[in-house]
Amino acid sequence: MTDSVQVSGYKLVQKIGEGGMATVYLAVQESLDREVALKIMSPALAANETFRDQFLKEGRIAAKLTHPHLMTVHDIGSDNGVYYLASEYLPAGTLRDRMQRLNTAEVLEIVRDVASGLSYAHEMGFVHRDVKPGNIMFRSNGSAVLADFGIAKAIKSVSAATMAGNAIGTPDYMSPEQAQATPVDGRSDLYSLGAVLFECLAGRKPYQASDAYAVALMHVTEPVPKLPEKLAWLQPLIDGLMAKRVDDRFANGDAFVAALDRLLAANPQLDAVLRESRSARRRAVAAAGTVSGAVAPTGSRKWIFAGVGIAVVLVASLAWKTWHGKTTGPIESATPIAPTETAPDSPSPPLVMAENAAADANLAKMDLPTLLSRGDEYLAYGEKNYGEKLDFPPGDNATDLFLEARKRDPENGRAAKGLEQIAAFFVNAANSALKNGLYTATDEFIKKGLRADPKNAALLKLKSQLAKAEAG
Ligand SMILES: Nc1ncnc2c1ncn2[C@@H]1O[C@H](COP(=O)(O)OP(=O)(O)OP(=O)(O)O)[C@@H](O)[C@H]1O
Ligand SMILES: [Mg+2]
Repeated sequence: MTDSVQVSGYKLVQKIGEGGMATVYLAVQESLDREVALKIMSPALAANETFRDQFLKEGRIAAKLTHPHLMTVHDIGSDNGVYYLASEYLPAGTLRDRMQRLNTAEVLEIVRDVASGLSYAHEMGFVHRDVKPGNIMFRSNGSAVLADFGIAKAIKSVSAATMAGNAIGTPDYMSPEQAQATPVDGRSDLYSLGAVLFECLAGRKPYQASDAYAVALMHVTEPVPKLPEKLAWLQPLIDGLMAKRVDDRFANGDAFVAALDRLLAANPQLDAVLRESRSARRRAVAAAGTVSGAVAPTGSRKWIFAGVGIAVVLVASLAWKTWHGKTTGPIESATPIAPTETAPDSPSPPLVMAENAAADANLAKMDLPTLLSRGDEYLAYGEKNYGEKLDFPPGDNATDLFLEARKRDPENGRAAKGLEQIAAFFVNAANSALKNGLYTATDEFIKKGLRADPKNAALLKLKSQLAKAEAG
């Protein structure tokens, strides 16, 4: 593979996330001038023949799944040894990012949505095998979708012995039958969804132990976890999803939804909150003039990538230039953190995005001089390298470093100047994107700039220009 990753037919715009097995880019599918999330599987996986066969086979089958609460897959393939999957772009982040700030009604609605998607997929004969907060994502209208159908099976087809580290995946949501490596059906996914529901409600994972194997074993041997007293009325849902014996679980996702509805009927106050949030969301979608469903655009924004000009080149070059971005960065982060992009705000976000706790912890460990010198270093690097390290990855970029420095020392001149310079960089980027009609990218750059300098006059002006351009 050459220095920078390329997939023919796609123009990579910006890196938006990274998991254990893949890197995800915002990209333009050139044939349709369509905005997509392009997931590029890691070279280690792509080198494995079993994975390659399974990935294409499973991906093609999974792409036939069409449901409002399953991520829409547009394309899957390989190009020059690069294995990729193009799907709808889900701009509002993952459940992992949000879960700490959700209220009970919101949690139940998300889990209901995912259960309905699972019900459909299971009926079609598919098991997801990796239901977890990082695979539950949001459209900009707030609706939840389950991502990565098919991929987990392909990854799991690769023997653990051939893959290093986290390839096996987290055991936190693993069903007892998965932990025992016995055959699974849809009810294994329901178990995992139960573990996700438990974590959202209780604020902790169902089982905690010092290592992954101990956690996996607890899924097999420990009693079903108990919700805190004030949520005990929801315990029947956890019991029905997380029962050890497969036959003791809800038979399918619809049975779970029915049980949820019965519980809500017995608790009219919460039911009313839930109905309200659902109808607000429907209104938002209707106002955006979109059809609800898996193929609906991701929100009211017009996802226009019409102009092909300087801005495309600029924006495309903002993509991280190298596949091995981490090793070419100016310095390695002292404490590697889980790379999670903080998603842009939804037009009317029903939920508040949670801070990335790992990123915060990373910053909290640094002293002021380190924050400033690393911030300066990233800034100088980013200005020469198309914005790299200016705002990504979370907790290890110039913006976060200077913001943390200013929190510790509000009058610090170096931090203030650094933030101004970052904003200035994004003013330029947003200007050329807007000139070329790249509205989504313009919006992204404005948000990035405003995070560094919320009162920046040029950015605020660009924001209103963008609103006018979109209205016209
Ligand atoms: N369709 C999408 N639209 C927008 N962002 C996405 C999309 N798919 C993935 N992402 C982002 O990329 C990140 C990495 O995704 P990926 O599926 O590779 O890993 P993961 O599910 O987070 O973790 P793991 O590697 O453990 O499965 C996600 O956490 C999310 O932030
Ligand atoms: Mg994923």
